[in-house]
Amino acid sequence: MALTRGFMLLALLGCTLGLSAARTTYVFVIFGDSLSDTGNTLRAAGVPDPAIYYKGRFTNGPNWVDRLNATFAKKCTAKVFNYAYGGATACPNPGYSQIYPYIKDLTNQTASFLSDYKTGKIPRGPGVKIIPIQWIGSNDLMLTLMGALNDAHTDPLQLAATINATVACRVQWAKTLALAGLKDIVMLPMSPVHLAPLLPAAAKPMVIQALNALDTATTAAVGALQAHLKTIHGSRPAAGARIHLLGNYTWIEAGGQEVKPPFTDMTGPCVANYLPLVIHPGLEICANPNDHLFYDTLHIGSRFHQWLGVKGILPRLQQLRLLPKTI
Ligand SMILES: *[C@@H]1O[C@H](CO)[C@@H](O)[C@H](O)[C@H]1NC(C)=O
Ligand SMILES: *[C@@H]1O[C@H](CO)[C@@H](O)[C@H](O)[C@H]1NC(C)=O
Ligand SMILES: *[C@@H]1O[C@H](CO)[C@@H](O)[C@H](O)[C@H]1NC(C)=O
Ligand SMILES: *[C@@H]1O[C@H](CO)[C@@H](O)[C@H](O)[C@H]1NC(C)=O
Repeated sequence: MALTRGFMLLALLGCTLGLSAARTTYVFVIFGDSLSDTGNTLRAAGVPDPAIYYKGRFTNGPNWVDRLNATFAKKCTAKVFNYAYGGATACPNPGYSQIYPYIKDLTNQTASFLSDYKTGKIPRGPGVKIIPIQWIGSNDLMLTLMGALNDAHTDPLQLAATINATVACRVQWAKTLALAGLKDIVMLPMSPVHLAPLLPAAAKPMVIQALNALDTATTAAVGALQAHLKTIHGSRPAAGARIHLLGNYTWIEAGGQEVKPPFTDMTGPCVANYLPLVIHPGLEICANPNDHLFYDTLHIGSRFHQWLGVKGILPRLQQLRLLPKTI
């Protein structure tokens, strides 16, 4: 036992020093919205506008998925399968899908992944560690809040229903993956959308309350699912599955203050655009995009993405021992 543990620790040391880590292929599978999309929406619909947005990222440069991969792949063997779409919601939303039929919501993304997993497009087996990561839910919330943006008022029952449904859809994803045999399933908390320049100051307290409710309910639902999964034993596919929820939105919010050199503009956007799914000719890009926490009125800048991928998400995955300690 002690020997095995020592061996495992050694293996966790790193991809260059360690034994098994060096032979492992780490497969990141990404599920999400515009914060994680690395070109799916651009390929499907020609947006966001490549004159404003970097290669299908909804920001001015590489996003957190690019940054996490680039840093990790320097030392370890990594592959990325990204199913995220700009504008995607956690729950199906028929009215919205009519306007943007090309957007794959979380249900669609999960179906695409499961199909690729079954057909062998996603590597699997000994020597392969698959790490599914989900970051979604902001658009479900924003769609419900749209009417409230100006007068800071929304139907509290409708908001509560959105929160319940969003949590249920997010956690159903984790359950579906566990039942398909995935072992370590990662969920990010909500993103700190209350910071977005799009939101009028008067609406922020309500949005913060909703974010707290979403994260708290997600924590409870993940706990309940984990307790259920613990009762599954033996050779059944879901046996041993673990769901890792990476805290709540507050560490992401705090990250904005940790970026070096600091942003000189934490509140104003570089580009006056909130709907990158539509091309708006004549939009101007500011002279100093890297000084802004927000690139447009809803999406963070690439320097914040760098922090998020390398200083936010990567060390949390290492702490959970999903990735080797030193890379
Ligand atoms: C991941 O990073 C490696 C090393 O920089 C690069 O070769 C590879 O193309 C990247 N993969 C993706 C999907 O960006
Ligand atoms: C998403 O799934 C729904 C229900 O299966 C389907 O009708 C729709 O076409 C899918 N959308 C995309 C973009 O794949
Ligand atoms: C949301 O879920 C909670 C807890 O399950 C429940 O008490 C509440 O009635 C639900 N609200 C709505 C609007 O569905
Ligand atoms: C969010 O996480 C922080 C840090 O772990 C914690 O102090 C805070 O209470 C959490 N907020 C909620 C609403 O659970």
